[in-house]
Amino acid sequence: MSAMRESKFGRHSLAAGLLGAAWVLSAPLAWAQGQVNVICSVQAEWCNLMATTYSRTSGTRVNMTMKGSGEALAQLNAERANPKTDIWFGGTGDPHLQAAEQGLTQDYQSPSLKDLYPWAQKQAKDSGFRTVGVYLGPLGFGMNTELLAKKKIAAPQSWADLLKPELRNEVQMANPASSGTAYTMIATLVQLMGEEKAFEYLRALHRNVSTYTRSGTGPVKAAARGETTVSISFIHDVTTEQVGGFPVQSASPSEGTGAEIGSMSIVKNSPNADAAKRFYEWALTPGAQQFGLAARQFQLPSHTKTPLDPRMPDFKKIKLINYDYAKYGASAERRRLIARWEREVQNAPK
Ligand code: G6P
Repeated sequence: MSAMRESKFGRHSLAAGLLGAAWVLSAPLAWAQGQVNVICSVQAEWCNLMATTYSRTSGTRVNMTMKGSGEALAQLNAERANPKTDIWFGGTGDPHLQAAEQGLTQDYQSPSLKDLYPWAQKQAKDSGFRTVGVYLGPLGFGMNTELLAKKKIAAPQSWADLLKPELRNEVQMANPASSGTAYTMIATLVQLMGEEKAFEYLRALHRNVSTYTRSGTGPVKAAARGETTVSISFIHDVTTEQVGGFPVQSASPSEGTGAEIGSMSIVKNSPNADAAKRFYEWALTPGAQQFGLAARQFQLPSHTKTPLDPRMPDFKKIKLINYDYAKYGASAERRRLIARWEREVQNAPK
């Protein structure tokens, strides 16, 4: 997940330049436009498509590193004294808000801000314009329909259903320290049930969880491939596996659920500040936002003019809680809830 990937265009333009190939006439632009270092927290297919397309069309070399939301925040903290990253694209919004509060990211107001949905603008305002919403996605479950049938387990439809004894060791979720998906789940439960009941629930769920994965999409990929029956996942990530031909379906918990505001931030004192702003502006355009769908990612894009797709989640059919992004994206709250989960749940005996 975390290997530095040189964009194909970057490598080709270098090779072409050395060989003096005819099309190298366009290559000096590549050098003139410099480079941009991006941490990307959406799925690899989307990250790669953005990197390739942007480098081809802008002439700017894109150095892309892929990391989960919690890991990305940890990296920005580690680089604080000497930032290497210019842009953090995607991943759940809570750690982007935490980065803003910690002064790791730059305030910037895009001229496109007014063309974004209100939830994306609110994310920007909540952060003092140090981040912005790029997509919206609801949390739910994924399940392998063949395994459910084989094991004669009814498809879970509620948070309560996940505690049933027949799901012992049949559930996977991610670790909230590395994964924004898992943190969204914990914050959702705390808002739905109150903190004490939510931790009681998480301790009871622990009996049914076989593995806490590093990445937020690990559990749904395992469900798709028959390695677990149920995953706690963003609903759009279940759709990606479905479209890939795997026997999975999603459910939205009947008690209510939360949603992520996938976000983007510019790193403070970033090495390629101008290139960072150009990439940021591009990433907010409807043209660039369509690459999510092109990479079979089904979050709701934040620009009001980006075309929608019927496979994107229908928010009218989902019972959404009024997720308090400012509260659960605050540094102290996020750290405290993750530490409590590590202390009381992660290593509890089964
Ligand atoms: C997937 C989803 C994104 C989400 C991200 C969070 O890529 O498609 O919508 O923001 O996971 O990843 P994480 O590993 O931090 O849970």
